[in-house]
Amino acid sequence: MLKAAFRERFEAAATEQSLRDENAKILGKKGELTAILRQMGSVSADARRSIGSLVNALKEEVEGAFEARLRAIARDKREAELHAAPFDLTLPGREPAPLGHMHPISIVRDEIVDVLASLGFAVHDGPEIETEENNFTKLGFPPDHPATDMQDSFWTTGGRLLRTHTSNIQVRAMSTRPPPMAFIAPGVVYRRDDDATHSPMFHQIECFLVDERVTMAHLKGVLAEFADRFFGAGTPIRLRPSYFPFVEPGAEVDVGCPFCKGPDGRRAGCSVCKRTGWIEILGSGMIHPVVFESCGIDPEKWTGFAFGMGVERVAMVRYGIPDLRILFENDPRFLAQF
Ligand code: PHE
Repeated sequence: MLKAAFRERFEAAATEQSLRDENAKILGKKGELTAILRQMGSVSADARRSIGSLVNALKEEVEGAFEARLRAIARDKREAELHAAPFDLTLPGREPAPLGHMHPISIVRDEIVDVLASLGFAVHDGPEIETEENNFTKLGFPPDHPATDMQDSFWTTGGRLLRTHTSNIQVRAMSTRPPPMAFIAPGVVYRRDDDATHSPMFHQIECFLVDERVTMAHLKGVLAEFADRFFGAGTPIRLRPSYFPFVEPGAEVDVGCPFCKGPDGRRAGCSVCKRTGWIEILGSGMIHPVVFESCGIDPEKWTGFAFGMGVERVAMVRYGIPDLRILFENDPRFLAQF
């Protein structure tokens, strides 16, 4: 009878939650049946033997009834779902979540890649952990060059380091394929630097071209075209002589400051360009014969140019960002502006 009463109460529960509530009232810590079971401790040993098995059997049956009802409720629910009217999967969500977007560095990197790709350069990839040979030696760095110092580079083990520039891709491409070739290599590079205009991790895009009779005029032409397409028509560039072990001659390249450009095209100078009217964005030059030789390419037959652009630099110029570190803080109030 008791059993039937419990079963009825289970049957009356229409949802899993109400069933579980009912079960707690019967079999929970303070449940009715639990209370009866607890009294078994105070009956005599003889009585316990006979009543005990009865009570235990009752408990098992009540538990069984609960489980059976639980399964029945789950089955009914599934059945109801299967027979319910189909719902329209193509309906838009009720509350569209705000969409994120690419990081400004990625936006600028992709734009630079697009411009150079449109000029015919193909993307070449390579590792961030590089051998000393590919990062320095084959590029003509003497063994005691300051850049190779522990103070300037992050060394790992086995003569490897985090690449300090994307110029390792020049070595990798030229050591594995015959000229002619025209590549760009966007990537992350690392140096022991940390201030308002330097971050220990930053992005570069390497660009290089190897063919017969390539001259500095080709380099300048590509840079001028790039400045035109990326910063706007008529953006001037200037080359200043500079030194990198892997080019000869070498030049640093500035673009006309976009922030103080007057209606007549003249630049008055401002705080962004430090009153010069020019902003440096890359290093460049004609690929040094030593680099060709170390990569197994005949420098009498082939010539080439290369340049390496700082993506953060370009982003700072493009968006007028005075402090590079803000690009890596990931403050949503800053990022939302792009
Ligand atoms: N690798 C140089 C740097 O990181 C830039 C560079 C690339 C210069 C190619 C000349 C030619 O500073």
